[in-house]
Amino acid sequence: MADWTSLQQDCLHCQKCALHETRHNVVFGVGNPASPVLLIGEGPGEQEDLKGEPFVGPAGRLLDDMLELIDLDRTKLYITNMVKCRPPRNRDPQNQEQEACRPYLDAQMQFIDPKIVICLGRIAAMGLIKPDFRITREHGQWFDIGTRRYMAIYHPSALLRDVTKRPETFVDLREIRAEIRRICPEVYDA
Ligand code: URA
Repeated sequence: MADWTSLQQDCLHCQKCALHETRHNVVFGVGNPASPVLLIGEGPGEQEDLKGEPFVGPAGRLLDDMLELIDLDRTKLYITNMVKCRPPRNRDPQNQEQEACRPYLDAQMQFIDPKIVICLGRIAAMGLIKPDFRITREHGQWFDIGTRRYMAIYHPSALLRDVTKRPETFVDLREIRAEIRRICPEVYDA
């Protein structure tokens, strides 16, 4: 855990991009870093910036409900974002911000060594699965990259804006539950 703690400390003091000038808190991540399941969002919003924790605003409440639907909660997985500081007015994180922050995510991935990576929304999917990822067409599909299985689902904020996307997401969530049961059943046995 020593490496994890120093990684977190480095991240909490980061000034590698301009987002540090406007942040209140760095949002490193939450959950169980020993879990084989990693969820990755886009970047902190207002509530997350104020609390220093990912997905604690309206989208976070929906994410908790989505996890509950498949018998998961924050203690059974790890949740982080592509960028650890809030982009002003919740704009998409810019490429240079994502690049500056990427070593923290890569180090988290190396430490956690997840079997299953769930990208929450298009930004995470484009950064982690492929640059031309099309969320409307490719959500719910598994992509095998190295030793890990990746899937993207709609971002909870998108599901708040457009409830018609929720039934498809329910199908994706059930697929995620089935795959976790198949390749890392300890997540449910614990
Ligand atoms: N949206 C994200 O992508 N991440 C958060 O932590 C909160 C909202």
